[in-house]
Amino acid sequence: MGHLFSRRAHLMQTQAARQQTIYPLGVLHPPGTFHPPGTFHPLGTIEPPGTDRPGKNTWRSLLTHAPIAPLTLIALLGVIALLASTSVTAATASEKAGYQRPDSIPFPADNPYSAEKAQLGKMLFFDQRLSRNFNMNCATCHNPSLGWEDGVPGAFGGQGETLSRHSPTTLNMAWSTSFFWDGRAPTLEEQIRGPVESPNEMNVPLTTVVERLSKVPGYREWFARVFPGLGITSDNILKAIATYERTLVSGVAPFDRWIEGDENAISAAAKRGFTLFNGKAACNQCHSGWNFTDNQFHDIGLATDDNGRMGITGKANDQHAFKTPGLRNIRQRAPYMHNGSLASLEQVIIHYIGGGIPRSSRSPEMRPVPLNAGEMKDLEAFLDSLTGADQPVSLPVLPY
Ligand code: HEC
Ligand code: HEC
Repeated sequence: MGHLFSRRAHLMQTQAARQQTIYPLGVLHPPGTFHPPGTFHPLGTIEPPGTDRPGKNTWRSLLTHAPIAPLTLIALLGVIALLASTSVTAATASEKAGYQRPDSIPFPADNPYSAEKAQLGKMLFFDQRLSRNFNMNCATCHNPSLGWEDGVPGAFGGQGETLSRHSPTTLNMAWSTSFFWDGRAPTLEEQIRGPVESPNEMNVPLTTVVERLSKVPGYREWFARVFPGLGITSDNILKAIATYERTLVSGVAPFDRWIEGDENAISAAAKRGFTLFNGKAACNQCHSGWNFTDNQFHDIGLATDDNGRMGITGKANDQHAFKTPGLRNIRQRAPYMHNGSLASLEQVIIHYIGGGIPRSSRSPEMRPVPLNAGEMKDLEAFLDSLTGADQPVSLPVLPY
């Protein structure tokens, strides 16, 4: 407990220093610990190396599993022989340090975190009264079962038509510095106005949403409690949803346990993939940091009619440039790219091997990356190690 308290004291100091509300995330607790309401935190548990995880085979349980023990031993010897014969470059400590998970979520000073505000935002995120025909909520296109995306190349609009852009994940938005594929919204609060009011999506003016929610006694109570004296306004709807979205953080992945020092957390193939990612394949030029994005815009040479960032800046250099997506939970988030044009991670890697369409707007960092079949598998194994142990998301009961 002493450890918990000192950590909390440290967080409070950081909070004062940054003049913004910090939501503690990195608290370590034993697996299965119940989080009392209000201290709920979405980052999951970083277990000490060697902890047996239910549902995961450990070396020990594999070896003691009688029928397969001899085979496993032979396989292990094979792996050891392989390791000895190929020179596996050990990832340097500094390379690893750049991928350390943060231990708190940043919230803006003008919309600080509170557990009740996040809970209200969650109800709004799942409430179909935020769409003209009562037929969609945010989760229609940002579905927690599908990595907070929707599993189709172009999102389905409010009238069932296919939109030209793919739904990006709403995970790890607290760290994003601009929003939408072309970065046209500078804040999450402003971003949310887009889908609600867009004729292609939920298609309802926020003023109408305010009218609708004002007729619901449960919402009147919630807004009065969370925004005393202000109640239900367009701004407060956006603030509540944005607060909920900032709590959506991808869970601790095997990769994170490896970064924390558990050498057995990921496979040898994934480790080789990490070395390729930061070396020969140079993916880290753009996919950098713990969430694997530089928050910048690049044309990676995909076939597309979409002008991307150029539509916002008017600069020829920004043609076909899109925001670098984070790579957390990437396996769950197919299909890939702004238009969902690549169906699998294998197709993504094949794209990077070719280097994309050479054209004047293509990023200077994009060039063909020759990878053999084994290296492609290694890179994919590394990308797989980024999938977090996310907790199931419970659906809220909506106010009436
Ligand atoms: C009809 C499907 C659909 C619905 C409904 C929808 N979105 Fe989206 N969302 C998208 C698409 C498509 C994009 C990308 C659009 C673009 O870049 O122009 C997007 C982008 C976003 C982004 C930006 C992500 C990033 O990386 O920049 C966030 C955040 C987001 N939506 C949150 C929400 C919230 C909150 C709601 C509910 C109020 C919502 N969305 C409703 C499809 C949808
Ligand atoms: C020049 C910067 C840059 C480099 C280098 C780069 N990427 Fe990307 N990556 C991007 C951008 C930008 C996108 C989105 C492009 C789009 O939608 O048009 C993207 C998209 C992706 C996606 C799909 C993400 C999603 O949510 O749909 C994956 C997976 C990916 N990159 C992996 C890699 C790998 C693996 C490498 C190295 C072989 C790599 N990237 C190198 C910038 C880069």
